Amino acid sequence: MQVIITANASAAAAHAADIVERTLAELEAPVFGLATGSTPVALYQALIERHRHQGLSFARLTTFNLDEYVGLPPGHPQSYRHFMQRELFDHVDIDPANTFLPDGTGDPLEAGSAYEALIEDHGGIDLQVLGIGRNGHIGFNEPTSSLGSRTRVKTLTRDTLKANARFFAPDEFQPSLALTMGIATILEARSILLIATGEAKAEAVARCVEGPLSALVPASALQLHPKVTVIVDPAAAERLELRDYYEFAAAHQRQLHRATPGETP
Ligand code: GLP
Repeated sequence: MQVIITANASAAAAHAADIVERTLAELEAPVFGLATGSTPVALYQALIERHRHQGLSFARLTTFNLDEYVGLPPGHPQSYRHFMQRELFDHVDIDPANTFLPDGTGDPLEAGSAYEALIEDHGGIDLQVLGIGRNGHIGFNEPTSSLGSRTRVKTLTRDTLKANARFFAPDEFQPSLALTMGIATILEARSILLIATGEAKAEAVARCVEGPLSALVPASALQLHPKVTVIVDPAAAERLELRDYYEFAAAHQRQLHRATPGETP
């Protein structure tokens, strides 16, 4: 894993946007896996800015989101489809027909394998963007999810329901089931970019990067993947034991890539 500790949360978003932009430029028909939650919003805003002011185009891009609530139709304001429209898709030139989320409204058991087949039909995911839950979940793969899991229905933990309750009005229905890409699905992406900011994520980040590989911390499964970049702000990096080493290694990388234009340090 490459761990990059940026000066603050907005530098983390800018660095992630650089990686997204570079991957978009490199590939003829890029396929990205996208995430919801508060963390990637700053990345999406950076991408929208680059679209508006620097001509960054999403016209060739296909996207697959990690997850969707079971029972919320796409038009529901708390659905992840609605979130993606509001935070990214409505503001860039992506073809809406090329944006996919698991279908939370049909038969949830069929929806999982249909989603897997769709990802495969598109040649798999080139770059998977991830946030991380405070309990170490990725997508909605809660602790003890099988490391070999594929897209399926998961029951959310009380912790996760509590953390995400802020998006729902007090009297609003909050689903406790979600369709999520599995851990094995995520690990098949050709590269992975995990972003974490804020002290509430420090423990999860340390366990993901440095902790033992364990189903108790689903994000620790990323240790098995050969191409993962973890971008964190100083607060989220707080509990990393080898923090100095990551900074030392990143300085070396910057020296090597000094000649690369358009990089955000
Ligand atoms: C949800 C999403 C995850 C996300 C997590 C953390 O549970 N399913 O994909 O990583 O929340 O969200 P936040 O960035 O808001 O802390």
